[in-house]
Amino acid sequence: MGRYIDLLAILATGALLYTIHKRRKPSLPLPPGLKGLPLVGNLFQVPSELQWMKYHEWASELNTDILHLQAAGTHIIILDKYEVAADLLDSRSSLYSGRPRMVMLTELMGQDFNLGLMDYGGAWRKHRRLVHQSLQATAIKRYRPHLVQAMRKLLKRLLDDRDDGNLMPHFRQLTAETILSVAYGMQIQQENDPYVKLSEDANRGAIIAAVPGRFLVEFIPILKYVPAWFPGASFKQKAQEWYKMTRAMVEVPYADAKRRLESGNPAVSILRTNLQKIEAGGKDDAFTEDVLRNTLAVLYAGATDTTVSTMASCVLGLMEHPEVLKKAQVQIDGVVKPGHFPDFDDEPSLPYITAIVKEALRWRDITPTGVPHALSTEDEYKGYRLPAGAIIIANQWAMLHDEDVYADPFEFNPDRFINPETGKIDYSRARDPGRACFGFGRRICPGRFIAYETLWLTIASFIATFDIKKPREKVTLPSGEEVERTVELTHEYEPGLIV
Ligand code: HEM
Repeated sequence: MGRYIDLLAILATGALLYTIHKRRKPSLPLPPGLKGLPLVGNLFQVPSELQWMKYHEWASELNTDILHLQAAGTHIIILDKYEVAADLLDSRSSLYSGRPRMVMLTELMGQDFNLGLMDYGGAWRKHRRLVHQSLQATAIKRYRPHLVQAMRKLLKRLLDDRDDGNLMPHFRQLTAETILSVAYGMQIQQENDPYVKLSEDANRGAIIAAVPGRFLVEFIPILKYVPAWFPGASFKQKAQEWYKMTRAMVEVPYADAKRRLESGNPAVSILRTNLQKIEAGGKDDAFTEDVLRNTLAVLYAGATDTTVSTMASCVLGLMEHPEVLKKAQVQIDGVVKPGHFPDFDDEPSLPYITAIVKEALRWRDITPTGVPHALSTEDEYKGYRLPAGAIIIANQWAMLHDEDVYADPFEFNPDRFINPETGKIDYSRARDPGRACFGFGRRICPGRFIAYETLWLTIASFIATFDIKKPREKVTLPSGEEVERTVELTHEYEPGLIV
């Protein structure tokens, strides 16, 4: 009898707790949001371009730092302030480190090898451990000679090609050279390098498929079982074509680089360091050839567009602010001996260069909405209910243009990071943009140290070597007189996950 009473007591307590839980949770409201249509919610209100500006506008209108939208049954939570992102994505990272399901990319196109798209769990952890150990601040020091070599080749190309004026292909070449030599120990050919082509082809498909709403199968996953020959299933044919490119990008450079290593290529690389670890044996299951092959293939996509876009923004900022360029050149001339390039050891003595790099990362944040996270378990924050499975978007653009932190946020002004009394970097004046532009929590960009070093060295060397001015053009006035005038810059960016 006593056993039954105990059981009843347990059941009654359970029922009571369940009722309290049931009552408490639904009573909490979702964060403020827009009124949507039945079934589709706000699906058609979210613009396909410059979403970050719209999100911020809505958050400001509703006077909230955390916004809720709903698209065809999926909850989307937008974090509009740095403090909110730090509270949730950094401090509660065990809940907020998932990735939303991407059917086209990971289930049809073979991008399941990509740690950036993997959901939080065992496979992600293994890949992340390998990439973290390979790219952490101390580990990347061994790759500095690769960075210096790629930078010198860039300066030489620019000297030879001064009248061309199109810097983007040069910056792209620099980042491709850097990442392929750091990852695989490969020296790439000047143009039409086959490995660069493999990665560019596969990544082009991935960028198209990553645009939300591009393929219906994202909303109706069961469609992935439709055969490729079925009328209207052209997405399956595309997926099959991209799948082949993806596998080639993962397998071909790895196999070639490994062969070269075995036949005596002496170059230091992530491949070499990790193969040595694998051969030495050990208990860590992150150190297997599968994990290594997958991780190396992710690095090209992670490193290229991001670094190239930031360098280009920096050049734009310097063209528009000759006084910033002048100040940086004066600082370099005072520190670096004539005939030498700035070096990593000079960084503490060149705070203005650091400020310029940080301002470029802030001014034109290249991942304005970060990479979406997913919430694994229902959570509460500031009296709001955040549902399990919600997609979490950190509005990095809003955080990096927050007027309370960065005065005149749309101005390119590296001085905001410099303490006028000491002349040193002082993030108490304006928060380090690195706290938001590289993402948050356990998913924070593992390439941030090498990205920063590549940017710092390239920009410092570029400023030390060249004057950077707006282009000039000849025009004929109505009077027939020919004059030269400065071309105004247009600031054209392609919108997307990476702008
Ligand atoms: C200016 C340069 C760069 C910027 C602004 C940048 C930004 C970002 C952002 C915002 C994320 C998502 C973080 C999150 O989910 O919260 C990310 C992830 C990632 N980045 Fe970068 N990145 C840069 C350069 C690089 C480089 C050079 C590499 C590789 C060498 C790299 C590799 C990766 C990888 C592998 C991930 C996925 C991490 C994961 O999901 O666990 N990135 N990056």
